Amino acid sequence: MSAGGGRRPIVAGNWKMNAGAPAEARALAREVRRLCERHRGAAVAVAPPFTAIVPVVETLEGAEVSVAGQDCHWEAKGAFTGAVAPKMLAAAGCRMVIVGHSERRRLFGDTDESVARKTRAAIEAGLVPIACVGETLPEREAGEAKAVTERQLRAALGGLGPAQLADVVLAYEPVWAIGTGRTATAAQAQEIHAHLRAVAAAVGGATFAAGLRILYGGSVTAANAGELAREADVDGCLVGGASLEAEGFSKIVAAVAETRR
Ligand code: PGA
Repeated sequence: MSAGGGRRPIVAGNWKMNAGAPAEARALAREVRRLCERHRGAAVAVAPPFTAIVPVVETLEGAEVSVAGQDCHWEAKGAFTGAVAPKMLAAAGCRMVIVGHSERRRLFGDTDESVARKTRAAIEAGLVPIACVGETLPEREAGEAKAVTERQLRAALGGLGPAQLADVVLAYEPVWAIGTGRTATAAQAQEIHAHLRAVAAAVGGATFAAGLRILYGGSVTAANAGELAREADVDGCLVGGASLEAEGFSKIVAAVAETRR
């Protein structure tokens, strides 16, 4: 299969708990819009903190840049202090939502089960979930990277019907590479991505697996994005730190788009 297999890559910026003040978020979104929109070869998304979603959606109105939530609850409403429902994100203008990020799993108690519920609830609310999987350093060193990510993927897809599967975007984010400056090599990423695609085929069939976008995340920069995205099963990236500066982020978008020429 040629690089990308015809799948349009996605570059998604995960702002995490940064740039969440409306004015700051507007300024960053304006720059992302100005610098990224021309790179048609890759779809672009940004995931601001909840407080900045509406200002960012307003700033990006009419632009080809999607807005994503960084997390959601699986319930539609109710007594869940601090949580936001998928439908609320959709109503605020989000088209996507990140679920199961390793920081949510590690710091906020997300489990394979809750990630599965969130994934399904996101789809039912009309959002595209970016479901994250990834092993820790001890797990990698114990030779468990494939087994751990497979377990996480099977759980995330478990409750979905055939039509729902088509909406899922996957992100492989080795925990040891997130925010550490230690990117997985292109070969390490490809090995896990290929495995995840094979698992996806076993779960949802060959057509689903062939169309599934699998993003890589973990210390992606303009310097390494192109090399990663040239791998056959790497369909773009989920960018943390480097998404907070529009110029650098746009270079990542350009590098990924370039791999599909
Ligand atoms: P990083 O974060 O690019 O800062 O390593 C990636 C992520 O957590 O999505």
